Amino acid sequence: MAEENEFPAMKNDRLLRAARGEEVDVVPVWAMRQAGRYLPEFREERAKCDFFTMCQTPELSCKVTLQPLNRFPLDAAIIFSDILVIPQALGMEVEMRPGEGPVFPSPLRGPEDLTKLASPADVCSKLEYVFDALTLTRKELQGKAPLIGFSGAPWTIMAYMIEGKGSKTMSNAKGWLYKYPEASHQLLKIITDATVNYLVGQAKAGAQILQVFESHAEHLGPDLFRNFALPCLKQICDEVKERVSQLGLKNIPMIVFPKGGHFALKDLAALNYEVIGIDWTVDPILARQIVGPNKTLQGNLDPCALYADKKSIDGAVKEMIQKFGRDRYIANLGHGMYPDMDPEHLAAFVEAVHKYSKK
Ligand code: CP3
Repeated sequence: MAEENEFPAMKNDRLLRAARGEEVDVVPVWAMRQAGRYLPEFREERAKCDFFTMCQTPELSCKVTLQPLNRFPLDAAIIFSDILVIPQALGMEVEMRPGEGPVFPSPLRGPEDLTKLASPADVCSKLEYVFDALTLTRKELQGKAPLIGFSGAPWTIMAYMIEGKGSKTMSNAKGWLYKYPEASHQLLKIITDATVNYLVGQAKAGAQILQVFESHAEHLGPDLFRNFALPCLKQICDEVKERVSQLGLKNIPMIVFPKGGHFALKDLAALNYEVIGIDWTVDPILARQIVGPNKTLQGNLDPCALYADKKSIDGAVKEMIQKFGRDRYIANLGHGMYPDMDPEHLAAFVEAVHKYSKK
């Protein structure tokens, strides 16, 4: 376990302050997929190396995690990795195919395949490389910004394990929920237990805040979400916080991001996550009414707004901050950046957040 005092002192902790509901000088800002192919220096590293080899090499993961911070005054670094390292650690093969994204050559076909999965108790021993990348990156950051660790949420991971790749309908994975509800709960339990161990490991290694990506929330209506997603998200938050406290570490703030899950905001506000991320389809004023005053909101500029000219980006950010207000707020996009975006337009986004949120 990395000791808190072996890390450099924080020079900028406004993301952590905003997550905890404390006062900030300006609104903190970062961007989902801020380390990625829109940066030429990332493409240069990526050309030399397979995606998962990059994830598995702490020096490389650290290097590309820091790339966006070397360019822009971002208020957070997010460790370069992927949510699919959990299915890998459970024994499944995952390939990252150019132009296609992640592919599982042998996805789960039916409940009988659950016996092939490794024990959730063993995942941490296979994910040491992520912990090493976090510890190294936390040191290399020199306190410039907090380091975000992350995982996928169980339903989102389950969907990939069954679909084997991206899907418009998620009909195979949703088919499990209707055909095999018991096996679905068993699979979700395996993923949930693995995720708790993994996130506790990340906190021990130096992650300062944890984001759980429920990227496939949009495929579940309110009932399926309540039955198959919400209990796992609750267990993850409660158990991670409990175990982090037992280890004598200070409370680690947690973010839940239900992409497309506007219908779930009220239920999520009842959990112990400090921060709720919203995508661009949710009106910030409505989101605040639903979640109440005691949660920090994160979001939610349409990523495609970064295709506009810099003056339009500036105007869109001004409007966004007016809607969210400057308290209990972390500025972000409503989802990840795309590879064909202009880095200078992210610079305009970050600059505008700081400019319009000064006291
Ligand atoms: O900068 C960061 O945000 C940190 C790194 C990060 C990656 N993936 C790197 C990555 C994070 C936080 C993720 C999370 C992730 N991975 C999610 C949740 C967020 C979301 O987008 O909803 C999901 C669903 C995945 C699974 C995944 N990984 C997909 C669907 C893809 C292909 C899509 C694409 O953009 O090509 C990936 C690949 C991936 N993960 C890339 C990066 C930089 C691009 C792959 C490459 O370099 O070839």
